[in-house]
Amino acid sequence: MRIWMDKQGKIYVAGHRGMVGSAIVRALQKEGYQNIVTRSHREVDLCRQEAVDAFFAQEKPDYVFLAAAKVGGIVANQEALADFMYENMMMEMNVIHAAWKNGCKKLLFLGSSCIYPRMAPQPMPESCLLTSELEKTNEAYALAKISGLKYCEFLNRQYGTDYISAMPTNLYGPNDNYHPLHSHVLPALIRRFHEAKEAGDREVVCWGSGEPLREFLYVDDLADACVFLMNRYSGNETVNVGTGKELTIRELTRLVAKVVGYEGRILWDASKPDGTPRKLLDVSKLEKLGWKYKIELEDGIRLAYEDFLHNPMRAER
Ligand SMILES: NC(=O)c1ccc[n+]([C@@H]2O[C@H](COP(=O)([O-])OP(=O)(O)OC[C@H]3O[C@@H](n4cnc5c(N)ncnc54)[C@H](OP(=O)(O)O)[C@@H]3O)[C@@H](O)[C@H]2O)c1
Repeated sequence: MRIWMDKQGKIYVAGHRGMVGSAIVRALQKEGYQNIVTRSHREVDLCRQEAVDAFFAQEKPDYVFLAAAKVGGIVANQEALADFMYENMMMEMNVIHAAWKNGCKKLLFLGSSCIYPRMAPQPMPESCLLTSELEKTNEAYALAKISGLKYCEFLNRQYGTDYISAMPTNLYGPNDNYHPLHSHVLPALIRRFHEAKEAGDREVVCWGSGEPLREFLYVDDLADACVFLMNRYSGNETVNVGTGKELTIRELTRLVAKVVGYEGRILWDASKPDGTPRKLLDVSKLEKLGWKYKIELEDGIRLAYEDFLHNPMRAER
């Protein structure tokens, strides 16, 4: 049965202090949803089943956006394979299970384009999930995420729930993680060029050849798509969320340097690994449903840099 979110219903956004969760709260408020409940990590550790059960029994949310997760770039993933698997698996299972037990009408789970197979066809359609081997560097994260996706599907099939999932491409925007080692490529470049500009460095060395092609979506666009999907989509198959546009890492670095105002040279250390040559989502399913991104990359990087400059949390995350 297709469920839409009514304005009076109670909405739980899990992970509301994170980049995606905070953007979902902004998007909901913009659309007039007022009845939003949140809990910080400290208030409810989503890895602890009894704490999650108690929270759901007390609040009984009608709708859930599950944006809490342990997230990080290649280094973070490889340094903590076991933690990435355990924490993500626990959070997903606890939240989705408690939502179902407590009568949640609709839930949106967030996957990630990095959980598609390593050699997926490009652009990647939703149907390529689990068709071949995963990327080794984030295998633990991918296995946990795929379990969450599948658990939603299995609840739908066994119990007739309306739990859906979205598969976002690389995201960036307010509340991103700018940690020098643990962040994703775009926030890492913002920080690197900002620091180089401040220090007056004449050159910045970037990893790899600069040739890989990547896609980026501003997080407020993703949040808008999540609210859209909660109101317009039901189904067991996930839905890709991206721009459908790509650029090389070299072009990305030039764009970030331009926005940040770094005028020195950019060098490439080709001894460092490049990763997959191309990663682009096939977004035709979402476009057919009637959604398209709004914020172009350069504008989005400008907004993200503003946030970086004014968000005092940035250095700690
Ligand atoms: N970032 C991307 O480029 C990207 C791309 C595709 C998909 N996604 C997906 O989007 C979702 C959110 O990612 P994000 O970038 O917003 O991550 P984020 O900024 O790191 O936020 C994650 C949130 O989860 C919370 N959290 C983590 N462990 C928790 C626990 N044990 N109990 C309670 N809360 C916990 C964090 O709270 P604390 O900060 O208090 O720990 C934080 O609020 C993830 O499912 C991710 O897979 C992200």
